[in-house]
Amino acid sequence: MADEKTDITLRRLTVQDVPKVADLVNGYATLGQMLPRSHHKLYQFLRDFVGAWNGDQLVGCGSLALIWEQLGEIRSLAVLPEWRRKGIGKMMIDYLLEDAKNLGLNQVFALTYQQAFFESMGFRQVARESLPHKIWGDCLDCPKFPNCDETAMIINLEPHQEGEESL
Ligand SMILES: CC(C)(COP(=O)(O)OP(=O)(O)OC[C@H]1O[C@@H](n2cnc3c(N)ncnc32)[C@H](O)[C@@H]1OP(=O)(O)O)[C@@H](O)C(=O)NCCC(=O)NCCS
Repeated sequence: MADEKTDITLRRLTVQDVPKVADLVNGYATLGQMLPRSHHKLYQFLRDFVGAWNGDQLVGCGSLALIWEQLGEIRSLAVLPEWRRKGIGKMMIDYLLEDAKNLGLNQVFALTYQQAFFESMGFRQVARESLPHKIWGDCLDCPKFPNCDETAMIINLEPHQEGEESL
Protein backbone atom coordinates (compact mmCIF):
# COMPACT_ATOMS: atom_id res chain seq x y z
CA MET A 1 0.00 0.00 0.00
CA ALA A 2 1.36 3.43 -0.89
CA ASP A 3 2.44 5.67 1.99
CA GLU A 4 -0.29 8.33 1.80
CA LYS A 5 1.64 10.71 4.05
CA THR A 6 4.43 11.11 1.51
CA ASP A 7 1.88 12.67 -0.87
CA ILE A 8 1.08 15.39 1.68
CA THR A 9 2.67 18.78 1.30
CA LEU A 10 2.56 21.70 3.70
CA ARG A 11 2.12 25.26 2.52
CA ARG A 12 0.93 28.61 3.77
CA LEU A 13 -2.64 29.58 2.89
CA THR A 14 -4.14 32.20 0.61
CA VAL A 15 -7.45 34.04 0.90
CA GLN A 16 -8.96 31.56 -1.57
CA ASP A 17 -8.40 28.79 1.00
CA VAL A 18 -10.45 30.41 3.78
CA PRO A 19 -13.77 28.64 2.99
CA LYS A 20 -11.97 25.25 3.11
CA VAL A 21 -10.35 26.07 6.47
CA ALA A 22 -13.71 27.25 7.82
CA ASP A 23 -15.36 23.96 6.78
CA LEU A 24 -12.60 21.90 8.39
CA VAL A 25 -12.41 23.80 11.69
CA ASN A 26 -16.12 24.46 12.08
CA GLY A 27 -16.94 20.82 11.28
CA TYR A 28 -15.15 19.89 14.52
CA ALA A 29 -16.51 22.97 16.32
CA THR A 30 -20.10 21.81 15.77
CA LEU A 31 -19.12 18.57 17.54
CA GLY A 32 -17.79 20.65 20.48
CA GLN A 33 -14.21 19.54 19.82
CA MET A 34 -12.75 22.92 18.83
CA LEU A 35 -13.45 26.64 18.97
CA PRO A 36 -15.49 27.87 15.99
CA ARG A 37 -13.81 30.42 13.71
CA SER A 38 -15.64 33.08 11.72
CA HIS A 39 -14.51 33.91 8.20
CA HIS A 40 -13.56 37.34 9.57
CA LYS A 41 -11.14 35.82 12.13
CA LEU A 42 -9.73 33.41 9.55
CA TYR A 43 -8.91 36.25 7.15
CA GLN A 44 -7.49 38.27 10.03
CA PHE A 45 -5.17 35.46 11.19
CA LEU A 46 -4.59 33.75 7.84
CA ARG A 47 -0.87 34.53 7.93
CA ASP A 48 -0.56 32.40 11.10
CA PHE A 49 -1.75 29.27 9.28
CA VAL A 50 -0.21 26.34 7.53
CA GLY A 51 -2.26 23.91 5.45
CA ALA A 52 -1.65 20.22 4.72
CA TRP A 53 -2.54 19.37 1.13
CA ASN A 54 -3.21 16.21 -0.80
CA GLY A 55 -3.06 17.77 -4.27
CA ASP A 56 -5.63 20.56 -4.12
CA GLN A 57 -7.56 18.95 -1.24
CA LEU A 58 -7.01 20.63 2.13
CA VAL A 59 -6.69 17.70 4.57
CA GLY A 60 -5.36 19.61 7.58
CA CYS A 61 -4.68 23.05 8.98
CA GLY A 62 -3.15 24.64 12.03
CA SER A 63 -1.90 28.00 13.20
CA LEU A 64 0.64 29.58 15.51
CA ALA A 65 -0.57 32.74 17.22
CA LEU A 66 1.85 35.16 18.86
CA ILE A 67 0.54 35.80 22.36
CA TRP A 68 3.20 37.56 24.32
CA GLU A 69 6.92 38.01 24.58
CA GLN A 70 8.37 34.53 23.96
CA LEU A 71 4.95 32.80 24.09
CA GLY A 72 2.95 31.34 21.21
CA GLU A 73 -0.26 29.29 20.95
CA ILE A 74 -1.23 26.48 18.62
CA ARG A 75 -4.76 27.21 17.40
CA SER A 76 -7.23 25.68 14.98
CA LEU A 77 -5.26 22.46 14.49
CA ALA A 78 -7.40 19.94 12.62
CA VAL A 79 -7.06 17.00 10.26
CA LEU A 80 -9.99 15.67 8.21
CA PRO A 81 -11.45 12.59 9.98
CA GLU A 82 -10.47 10.16 7.21
CA TRP A 83 -6.89 11.50 7.23
CA ARG A 84 -6.26 11.22 10.97
CA ARG A 85 -3.53 9.00 12.49
CA LYS A 86 -1.35 9.26 9.39
CA GLY A 87 1.19 11.69 10.87
CA ILE A 88 -0.30 14.87 9.35
CA GLY A 89 -0.97 16.52 12.72
CA LYS A 90 2.64 15.84 13.68
CA MET A 91 3.89 17.30 10.37
CA MET A 92 2.00 20.53 11.05
CA ILE A 93 3.12 20.75 14.69
CA ASP A 94 6.76 20.25 13.62
CA TYR A 95 6.31 23.03 11.06
CA LEU A 96 4.64 25.43 13.51
CA LEU A 97 7.23 24.78 16.25
CA GLU A 98 10.00 25.46 13.74
CA ASP A 99 8.20 28.71 12.88
CA ALA A 100 8.04 29.51 16.62
CA LYS A 101 11.78 28.94 16.99
CA ASN A 102 12.50 31.18 14.01
CA LEU A 103 10.41 33.89 15.66
CA GLY A 104 12.46 33.56 18.87
CA LEU A 105 9.70 32.06 21.03
CA ASN A 106 10.64 30.08 24.15
CA GLN A 107 7.32 28.38 24.79
CA VAL A 108 4.25 27.29 22.85
CA PHE A 109 1.02 26.13 24.44
CA ALA A 110 -2.31 24.67 23.35
CA LEU A 111 -5.70 24.41 25.01
CA THR A 112 -7.00 21.05 23.94
CA TYR A 113 -8.99 17.86 24.44
CA GLN A 114 -6.24 15.96 22.56
CA GLN A 115 -3.80 15.44 25.44
CA ALA A 116 -2.31 12.19 24.10
CA PHE A 117 -1.52 13.80 20.76
CA PHE A 118 0.20 16.82 22.31
CA GLU A 119 2.07 14.61 24.81
CA SER A 120 3.43 12.58 21.93
CA MET A 121 4.70 15.89 20.45
CA GLY A 122 6.64 16.66 23.67
CA PHE A 123 4.11 18.98 25.32
CA ARG A 124 3.39 18.62 29.04
CA GLN A 125 0.28 19.45 31.01
CA VAL A 126 0.23 22.66 33.07
CA ALA A 127 -2.42 24.39 35.18
CA ARG A 128 -4.39 26.78 32.97
CA GLU A 129 -4.03 29.42 35.69
CA SER A 130 -0.24 29.33 35.25
CA LEU A 131 -0.57 30.84 31.76
CA PRO A 132 -0.56 34.65 31.43
CA HIS A 133 -3.96 36.34 31.58
CA LYS A 134 -3.32 37.66 28.08
CA ILE A 135 -4.28 34.25 26.67
CA TRP A 136 -7.90 34.55 27.71
CA GLY A 137 -8.72 37.17 25.07
CA ASP A 138 -9.45 34.42 22.53
CA CYS A 139 -11.58 32.57 25.05
CA LEU A 140 -14.16 35.37 25.11
CA ASP A 141 -15.33 34.05 21.70
CA CYS A 142 -15.76 30.52 23.05
CA PRO A 143 -19.30 29.24 23.69
CA LYS A 144 -17.95 27.45 26.79
CA PHE A 145 -16.50 30.60 28.39
CA PRO A 146 -15.95 30.84 31.37
CA ASN A 147 -16.40 27.11 32.02
CA CYS A 148 -13.42 25.88 30.03
CA ASP A 149 -12.78 22.14 30.31
CA GLU A 150 -9.80 22.01 27.92
CA THR A 151 -6.36 20.97 29.13
CA ALA A 152 -3.43 23.39 28.89
CA MET A 153 -0.36 21.78 27.32
CA ILE A 154 2.98 23.53 26.89
CA ILE A 155 6.37 22.87 25.32
CA ASN A 156 9.70 24.63 25.94
CA LEU A 157 11.74 25.52 22.88
CA GLU A 158 15.29 26.46 22.20
CA PRO A 159 14.92 29.41 19.82
CA HIS A 160 17.21 29.47 16.79
CA GLN A 161 20.17 31.81 16.98
CA GLU A 162 20.44 34.53 14.34
CA GLY A 163 21.39 33.01 10.97
CA GLU A 164 20.08 29.54 11.92
CA GLU A 165 16.52 30.08 10.69
CA SER A 166 14.81 27.36 8.64
CA LEU A 167 11.47 27.03 6.73
C1 LIG B 1 -5.49 16.32 17.07
C2 LIG B 1 -5.31 15.98 15.58
C3 LIG B 1 -5.03 17.29 14.84
C4 LIG B 1 -4.13 15.02 15.45
O1 LIG B 1 -3.84 14.86 14.07
P1 LIG B 1 -3.40 13.44 13.44
O2 LIG B 1 -2.93 13.70 12.08
O3 LIG B 1 -4.49 12.47 13.64
O4 LIG B 1 -2.20 13.06 14.41
P2 LIG B 1 -0.89 12.20 14.01
O5 LIG B 1 -1.27 11.10 13.09
O6 LIG B 1 0.16 13.13 13.54
O7 LIG B 1 -0.52 11.59 15.42
C5 LIG B 1 0.80 11.61 15.90
C6 LIG B 1 0.82 10.83 17.19
O8 LIG B 1 -0.02 11.47 18.15
C7 LIG B 1 -0.64 10.47 18.97
N1 LIG B 1 -2.13 10.55 18.78
C8 LIG B 1 -2.79 11.21 17.79
N2 LIG B 1 -4.11 11.09 17.97
C9 LIG B 1 -4.28 10.35 19.09
C10 LIG B 1 -5.42 9.89 19.80
N3 LIG B 1 -6.66 10.17 19.40
N4 LIG B 1 -5.22 9.13 20.90
C11 LIG B 1 -3.99 8.82 21.32
N5 LIG B 1 -2.85 9.23 20.68
C12 LIG B 1 -3.00 10.00 19.60
C13 LIG B 1 -0.09 9.15 18.54
O9 LIG B 1 1.09 8.90 19.28
C14 LIG B 1 0.27 9.42 17.09
O10 LIG B 1 1.23 8.57 16.56
P3 LIG B 1 0.76 7.11 16.02
O11 LIG B 1 -0.42 7.32 15.12
O12 LIG B 1 1.99 6.63 15.31
O13 LIG B 1 0.44 6.32 17.24
C15 LIG B 1 -6.57 15.28 15.00
O14 LIG B 1 -6.87 14.18 15.81
C16 LIG B 1 -7.81 16.18 14.91
O15 LIG B 1 -8.02 16.87 13.92
N6 LIG B 1 -8.67 16.14 15.96
C17 LIG B 1 -9.92 16.88 15.97
C18 LIG B 1 -9.68 18.36 16.14
C19 LIG B 1 -8.95 18.65 17.41
O16 LIG B 1 -9.29 18.20 18.49
N7 LIG B 1 -7.87 19.47 17.29
C20 LIG B 1 -7.01 19.87 18.40
C21 LIG B 1 -7.31 21.27 18.76
S1 LIG B 1 -6.11 21.86 19.95
